[in-house]
Amino acid sequence: MSFPIHRPRRLRKNGAIRKMVRETQLTPEDFIYPMFVTHGRGVKKKIQSMPGCFQRSVDEIVKEAQNVYKLGIPAVLLFGIPEHRDEKGSEAYSDKGVIQKAIKAIKDKVPELVVITDVCLCEYMSHGHCGIVKNGKILNDPTLELLAKSALSHARAGADIVAPSDMMDGRVGAIRDALDAHGFEDIPIMSYSAKYASAFYSPFREAAESAPQFGDRRSYQMDSSNRREAIKEVALDIEEGADIVMVKPAMCYLDIISDIKDTFDVPVAAYNVSGEYSMVKAAAKLGWIDEKKVMMEILTSIKRAGADLILTYFAVDAVKELNK
Ligand code: PBG
Repeated sequence: MSFPIHRPRRLRKNGAIRKMVRETQLTPEDFIYPMFVTHGRGVKKKIQSMPGCFQRSVDEIVKEAQNVYKLGIPAVLLFGIPEHRDEKGSEAYSDKGVIQKAIKAIKDKVPELVVITDVCLCEYMSHGHCGIVKNGKILNDPTLELLAKSALSHARAGADIVAPSDMMDGRVGAIRDALDAHGFEDIPIMSYSAKYASAFYSPFREAAESAPQFGDRRSYQMDSSNRREAIKEVALDIEEGADIVMVKPAMCYLDIISDIKDTFDVPVAAYNVSGEYSMVKAAAKLGWIDEKKVMMEILTSIKRAGADLILTYFAVDAVKELNK
């Protein structure tokens, strides 16, 4: 394997040859587009820390869902911003909740678009944590029932896939049981299996108004130093019935994506989270990087690492770039 017999540059000679030997190609089908639903009508409110992203009322969400579908993006992920927050996250599993309304409206107008719902309580809780809180502690087992109720209400409203993001132990099994007991045995679970306690979520917490009011999420989300533990988390979720497993965030966790892809035989999703998005937007605004090129490089690297699906706020821009 030595020079001058081998000259890797031969295959980099021009664009046509480079394209022929390219190992990773992004396609619109790779993407899932996250969106934020809020109450009201005709609302399209800018999210300051995530330029290009909005809180949208149900009518506006439907319009955007139509655009997304036309571009060839197969799926959206929905987050809800409730009218009221309380200690039990009541709107998370109310049939009149904002998410439930959005699911119905999208499935009514764009039935072919796959609607995935984030199943979590933090947006709906007065304290902003992902579980029931007692004496400053986030309780695991009592939370499972509320998560199962939420997933069930999403399925009833017409969701195609439910995606638990809370990181309570045993939630996948609890959700699977509840769905099966009510005739939704064909609704897949996409589990946020290896979700790290990350500083990259802060723009999202502005978007979803879900910042914890005390402490942080380190007693339930994973420690970012841990690699082997991700394998354990994914194995547990698959055992409990997860159909798709997710690694989150993506950019600083490409090793985890690669490990999971090599170890398991279920589809692997990766979440290119809000902070990863906002950093690119901010640096581009300052003229320090080329936004479109950096975006495509990041998304390609996530796929190259092994992701079969990429959840990203860049989905619409990336597909426009692919269509150029
Ligand atoms: C809810 C949830 C969060 C994200 C997705 N689902 C926030 C969190 O865990 O604090 C983050 C998404 C992003 O940063 O883009 N638990």
